[in-house]
Amino acid sequence: MIENWLERKEVCICCGSGGVGKTTASAAIALGMAARGKKVVVLTIDPAKRLANSLGLAELGNEERLVEADVEGELWAMMLDPKRTFDDIVEWHAPDERTRDAVLSNRIYQELSNAVAGSQEYMAMEKLYELHQEGRYDLLVLDTPPTRNALDFIDAPKKLAAFIDSRALQFFTAPGALSLKLVGRGGGLVFSGLKRATGIDLLDDLSTFFSSFAGMTEGFRERAGHVNELLADSRTAFVLVTSPRSDAIEEAGWFHHRLMDAGLPFAGAVANRVRPAPPRGDAGAEVEELLDGPLARKVLRTWEEERQLAKRDRANLATLRRRLGRKPIIEIPYIDDDVHDIDGLRKMDEYLF
Ligand SMILES: Nc1ncnc2c1ncn2[C@@H]1O[C@H](COP(=O)(O)OP(=O)(O)OP(=O)(O)O)[C@@H](O)[C@H]1O
Ligand SMILES: [Mg+2]
Repeated sequence: MIENWLERKEVCICCGSGGVGKTTASAAIALGMAARGKKVVVLTIDPAKRLANSLGLAELGNEERLVEADVEGELWAMMLDPKRTFDDIVEWHAPDERTRDAVLSNRIYQELSNAVAGSQEYMAMEKLYELHQEGRYDLLVLDTPPTRNALDFIDAPKKLAAFIDSRALQFFTAPGALSLKLVGRGGGLVFSGLKRATGIDLLDDLSTFFSSFAGMTEGFRERAGHVNELLADSRTAFVLVTSPRSDAIEEAGWFHHRLMDAGLPFAGAVANRVRPAPPRGDAGAEVEELLDGPLARKVLRTWEEERQLAKRDRANLATLRRRLGRKPIIEIPYIDDDVHDIDGLRKMDEYLF
């Protein structure tokens, strides 16, 4: 199944709303493709500790590691550390060491890259692009972060480019940075008060920051453009992960719509943790024969509830199927004992592939 979606693809992006199983699906897809002879790397974001451990990713690091798994190809994994990647970009674009150090050690930059530019989404895209450029893998599988706005990552490259083009930035980076002098005059009192109180020369920091950053904006913009191209490329496949619950299905429909709108290559959806329908027929007689009255009633009630939930899942999936038109949906049932290691991922294999 999913190997058909990924035929001739070099990038697979697993997206979807929070908690539906993006990280698990990414890892299972990567493992499955590696088992089928490919050299695969999975870029994962903040996975559960147990999954990270089982992939040999006890700590964060922006380096891929070979996962010990008995596969025909190779499985590599990497846990994204957004901050480091942002630093890597500065490193990449800075014209010289002095500029690089000036930016990296700058307090404003540190704040920016921690908070504002905690645009994890964009950083993940950057790393993806970089690895794709290097061409060392047959397939890159990207897990996406649990964003409030589940689609932030699609807009991230555009947003960064917009920020770079923004008047605000140009205002500060204009030759002579008149603006800084203005700020200096108007805010002088504040800044010097701050300096006295904290020892931090904010104005100086600001001015160093913007003048070092100015030479790098072109590079950033260009990269954001390339990242956008990679996302829309026919070698990329977007896999939408969803749960069969109605709120998730609702979001998945909207997600799909947005992907199509943005002209991104949507491959299909994975409906994860689908409740299997209990066997048909009347269990009542059998249960009552085996169990005492009150217990039998309880069991039957649970049975009936399960049946209702399974029925609801089916109805929700039918809704999704209508929304997706001809695009395929793969169903993965609820797997007992949550999926947190290679064995668990292998259990998902049977459904995905
Ligand atoms: N088919 C399944 N059966 C049972 N448990 C599952 C299944 N798929 C995922 N899980 C479990 O559900 C939990 C959430 O999965 P996962 O972390 O992959 O979701 P996510 O979409 O990446 O979440 P987030 O949006 O927070 O990143 C994990 O504990 C995982 O082990
Ligand atoms: Mg996750």
